[in-house]
Amino acid sequence: MRRLDGAAPEAGLLRAAGEALARIAGLAPSPVLAGRLLRAAPLLPGCWPGPEHHDAPGWAALLDAVTVQQTRLFRHPQQCLALGARLPALAAAARAQGRPLRLLSAGCATGEEVFTLAALAQEVRLATPGLAVEVLGVDLCRPALGAAARGVIAPGLGAPLEHVPDAMRRWFLGAGGEAALHPALREMARFRRANLLQGLPGEAPFDVVMCRNVLVYLTDAARRRVLGHLLALLRPGGVLALGPTDRAPPGAEALAEGLLGAGHG
Ligand SMILES: C[S@@+](CC[C@H](N)C(=O)[O-])C[C@H]1O[C@@H](n2cnc3c(N)ncnc32)[C@H](O)[C@@H]1O
Repeated sequence: MRRLDGAAPEAGLLRAAGEALARIAGLAPSPVLAGRLLRAAPLLPGCWPGPEHHDAPGWAALLDAVTVQQTRLFRHPQQCLALGARLPALAAAARAQGRPLRLLSAGCATGEEVFTLAALAQEVRLATPGLAVEVLGVDLCRPALGAAARGVIAPGLGAPLEHVPDAMRRWFLGAGGEAALHPALREMARFRRANLLQGLPGEAPFDVVMCRNVLVYLTDAARRRVLGHLLALLRPGGVLALGPTDRAPPGAEALAEGLLGAGHG
């Protein structure tokens, strides 16, 4: 039975939806997911029948509702600054090869991680004449991607610039001192809806792949699969930046020099 008929959602239906979300997007069962699924129960009748796929309208709406978009500018600031210190060498290599410096935020939510990468890259761009920079943000959640594409800076626990180093604040301040994205950063940024479980077909390799606070929501199998895709997207010599709770994937030892943990900052 795939109908709710206005009654309290059946436990079986919620369980079936949770299992489908694990198959579709790799989402792991958790109390957070269970609570969000319960609140989103009115969307469940739109999910079946039909293909279990992140592009199917019912499942897309459910994914919008149950994914967690918490993010902020310069989240894990020490790691951001450590990455910033690596960028000049990566930029010099890109410039010497006549190609853009490419950075990826995998699971970008409302885009603050993309804008953080863009600010770090913009500093390097100013010092590297002729350097082109592309920053791609991918996520499954359509409203989050919509906000990101508009360049909206989310309130971020009430103080959106709290973690932004003083020297970088100029990229995030409007004329009136309000939080606002500098047009130069917006120009570098591109957003794409994609399911990390399926990789990013058609994307050229990246010099930096950042995936933080995403794998923690996934099943073990999905984590391994996503990490495999992320490693495949990383240019040799590039930097893989994971979140504080993420373990390096097997094979990353070869990239040890490029692996940048977030610690707990
Ligand atoms: C908590 S946010 C992390 C945002 C940012 N990376 C940060 O650390 O501030 C997690 C994001 O991962 C996205 N996500 C979860 N599973 C995904 C999948 N299979 N494919 C793409 N995005 C996914 C969610 O939609 C959500 O926006």
